[in-house]
Amino acid sequence: MRTITLINGDGIGPEISESVMKIISASGLEINWDIQTAGADVIEKEGKPLPDRVLDSVKKNKVALKAPVTTPIGKGFRSVNVQLRKDLDLYANLRPCKNLPGVKTRFDNVNLVVVRENTEDLYAGVEEQIDENTAHSIKIITRQASERICRFAFDYAVKNNRKEVCAVSKANIMKLSDGLFLDAYRTVAKEYPQIAQREILVDNLCMQLVQEPARFDVLVLPNLYGDIVSDLTAGLIGGLGVAQGANIGKSCAVFEPVHGSAPDIKGQNKANPTALLLSAVEMLKYIGENSYAEKIEKALFKTLFDGDKTADLGGNLSTTEFTDKIIKHLY
Ligand code: NAI
Repeated sequence: MRTITLINGDGIGPEISESVMKIISASGLEINWDIQTAGADVIEKEGKPLPDRVLDSVKKNKVALKAPVTTPIGKGFRSVNVQLRKDLDLYANLRPCKNLPGVKTRFDNVNLVVVRENTEDLYAGVEEQIDENTAHSIKIITRQASERICRFAFDYAVKNNRKEVCAVSKANIMKLSDGLFLDAYRTVAKEYPQIAQREILVDNLCMQLVQEPARFDVLVLPNLYGDIVSDLTAGLIGGLGVAQGANIGKSCAVFEPVHGSAPDIKGQNKANPTALLLSAVEMLKYIGENSYAEKIEKALFKTLFDGDKTADLGGNLSTTEFTDKIIKHLY
């Protein structure tokens, strides 16, 4: 039996993790979940929000499913999510964004993929307080990380029959840092003549995405733009409750939804487990369990198609009712 790390998070994390474990188990696939806790709740006992046991577990099992973990705003500990990605060198954040059956949105032809650099940019956490009224945050862009993420995006495009990889930047203003990212993109793009190339400024991208998202295929972005744009693209297909993601490195991969811990609906049995479930489906494909992945995806799509949904998608089912509906369609 395969052992997989499950970081069950906080906020709605434990509720949606329960749902996903239940659905996978009902599909007939046996997984030995190595459940690891992280975040504010473990600090008191273990002294830090991301204890070494969590990293060791992911390193050992190579694959993890992760529910969201809250990050305090302003003062407090550094984001567990950012640290995990950095410590495990999960350099590529992959966020596919495609319409789901039965989930009506403004557009019905969205099928794009956001590839976000995951290790540097303003997320490097290099900040200093200059004086009481001034703070600096350093944006770090390196050729090595930029070329690596662009190569990942082009390889992904080749493997998944995608036609175009578009580089997103603000190189007209940040001529050195974003200029370097763009230069790295152009260098790597030369190795992939079969894939169309395009460059766009991030503000123009946002405008075009909300007008006609079908214009885009694979997008490759530095960390911060990738974070913001992938929430926007989540909105194009029905919101955060359905947006899946994955953090991929050379030796391990952590699959997690785009959304956060949704403290506003914590413990109310209201959360939509779809984003975590779709992340788990991708994880199953990644470990070669394609038939179970397809079975679960089909059951989810049938449930949504029938109009059985949680409140964020305009439905009236609780997390547990929605979970049970999906399980009913597993055959
Ligand atoms: P959020 O994504 O948690 O919530 C934004 C809105 O979307 C809320 O109204 C929430 O109820 C709704 N929502 C999100 N996921 C949902 C779901 N599965 N079903 C139904 N509704 C859902 O974003 P917010 O409030 O900005 O962040 C809350 C915390 O989560 C913060 O501490 C943030 O740092 C953390 N966070 C963690 C992430 C991770 O663990 N990878 C990613 C993003 C945020």
